[in-house]
Amino acid sequence: MSDETLSNLLREERRFPPPKELAGSANVTDATYEQAADDPDAFWAEQAKRLDWDTEPTETVDWSNPPFAKWFADGTLNAAYNCCDRHVEAGHGDRVAFYFEGEPGDTREITYAQLTAEVKQAANALTELGVTSGDRVAIYLPMIPEAVVAMLACARLGAPHTVVFGGFSSDALATRIADCGVEVVITADGGYRRGAPSDLKSAVDQALTKCEGVRSVLVVQRTGQDVEMTEGRDLWWHDFVGGQSDEHTPEAFPAEHPLYIMYTSGSTGTPKGILHTTGGYLVGTSYTHWAAFDLKPETDVFWTAADIGWVTGHSYLVYGPLVNGTTSVMYEGTPNTPHQGRWWEIIEKYRVSILYCAPTAIRTFMKWGPEFPEQFDLSSLRLLGSVGEPINPEAWVWYRHYIGGDRVPVVDTWWQTETGMIMVSPMPGVSEAKPGAAMTAVPGVSVDVVNDEAHSVPNGSGGYLVVTKPWPAMLRTLWGDDQRFIDTYWSRFEGLYFAGDGAKKDDDGDIWLLGRVDDVMNVSGHRMSTTEIESALVSHPKVAEAAVVGATDDTTGQAIVAFVILRTEAGDGGPDVVQELRTHVAAEIGAIAKPRQIMVVEELPKTRSGKIMRRLLRDIAENRELGDVTTLTDSSVMTLIKDNLAKPDSPQE
Ligand code: WT7
Repeated sequence: MSDETLSNLLREERRFPPPKELAGSANVTDATYEQAADDPDAFWAEQAKRLDWDTEPTETVDWSNPPFAKWFADGTLNAAYNCCDRHVEAGHGDRVAFYFEGEPGDTREITYAQLTAEVKQAANALTELGVTSGDRVAIYLPMIPEAVVAMLACARLGAPHTVVFGGFSSDALATRIADCGVEVVITADGGYRRGAPSDLKSAVDQALTKCEGVRSVLVVQRTGQDVEMTEGRDLWWHDFVGGQSDEHTPEAFPAEHPLYIMYTSGSTGTPKGILHTTGGYLVGTSYTHWAAFDLKPETDVFWTAADIGWVTGHSYLVYGPLVNGTTSVMYEGTPNTPHQGRWWEIIEKYRVSILYCAPTAIRTFMKWGPEFPEQFDLSSLRLLGSVGEPINPEAWVWYRHYIGGDRVPVVDTWWQTETGMIMVSPMPGVSEAKPGAAMTAVPGVSVDVVNDEAHSVPNGSGGYLVVTKPWPAMLRTLWGDDQRFIDTYWSRFEGLYFAGDGAKKDDDGDIWLLGRVDDVMNVSGHRMSTTEIESALVSHPKVAEAAVVGATDDTTGQAIVAFVILRTEAGDGGPDVVQELRTHVAAEIGAIAKPRQIMVVEELPKTRSGKIMRRLLRDIAENRELGDVTTLTDSSVMTLIKDNLAKPDSPQE
């Protein structure tokens, strides 16, 4: 199809009804919506049967003390047992849990029996290191099978894990370790990215000079590069875990026992520790994985192309799929190593039937051109998913056409680290999908779009996306900060969960997500706080003041653009100041937080009350005509900025 035909099609208001074969055998039907609406409690009690409980729960949700929810509170279970052992006991020990594909091309096929044995060994190893129920363990690993094993070993012991994305800096790691009081860190010598080994162990060593309380570090050997091992603290995974028994009896924990903490950016400087608990989270993720992807565990090969360091990896690479006994692909590296067809080669090789990825990846593939997917046999695909940011209709149609051969449904799934599970999404066997719309709440979930007064908006209008009823995988609180939990999510609208996203209802009442309404940016599907990056910039000795905005970007959705005022004594900062500041941000937070552009300015536009007017900075960053400047203290500031703009520096690598 030529680009011209494609854009003509986009002018049509196309609807994509479910393919007949899929609709005929779909997991979710109209009846599912009806059952969930008629009696949500009974619906969720039914979904809880997806798990093997040691003590069956008799309660569903306890919402007597909002916003602190309890789900299935009188039930007890073991998360790792539900992901591993029980599949072996049911006779599926030989089923592949993961086809692992390393970036350099090494592969591993891990069956449920092998995964179970490795998790038991790792649980024994952590026990020997003194880890018991409630202790926190940090995991800072590349995308390798040991990351899954480590998470499940923690879960097996009731020790909440906190996985820190391998791209975060040692400072970011130290902050997280300190915030939740980590005692053991699991890391690797390094991992492969873009053909070169990255360095993880030395980042851990540095982090541990900045925080206390970590007594052991387990190191997976991945790249074989030289690392320093600290006597009495550091242990090689292959020695220490490999030498353990693969017998281990799982202990049952209450449904509300903490499962993990995942840090995410908020609108203030410090990352928030989102706390997820066991029973409700496993019910919510396994149910939505089955529903939104129409999962058939006996035949599907499922691939979530997201890093385990983000919630997508937790819910749809690890917990949801494993509870469902799924065969998944796990890929370590980047999409263009060693060539731009790597993803499609993987799909052909493993006969992947369901692919789940972010719009930013799709837009990148669009840029590279269809000749890469066209070289591979993608006929195994039967469903495509999108997550992480609003998907533009062009990308949606391209994805369906070039990857899905115009045959397969696309599900645009809206959710958050906080929601734990998919909340708004088409159901592939039911919904008439519209390119760019997340459509409706999944059966059992209740969302709405409201105005400033918390009133539901009529069809055809926009407002804020809220969740109106508790859901099983919801965050329970922010680690150590109940008040911030209440303030952030439950104070804007009485009794409603405020997601921080703008949304509109179209004339049919279907939901379109419009992006964040707070100071949170979405860069390549990664959440970044403007304040956090401003703080990083201001911590540099040459910087007096900084303002950061998210500017629309064709590939990454949003891109980070920073405006900085240098300290007088720094003069003009020298020729390399912009590079110096970008490197500084990478060291403080991580390479993903490096601004695409830094503009050195004399002044920042402020309102009379002293608030920086980001709207105007965004106009500049996006090369737009300036908006209303009448509330500025001094509107000449804007002209000054426009006239004195430092030349935009190189784009983010
Ligand atoms: C924010 C949550 C959910 C896992 C990955 C990101 C944005 C997410 C969509 C979507 C429009 C989306 C929202 C949300 N977002 N999915 N399908 N359409 N926007 O998790 O880092 O917690 O970010 O990502 O703005 O609030 P996260």
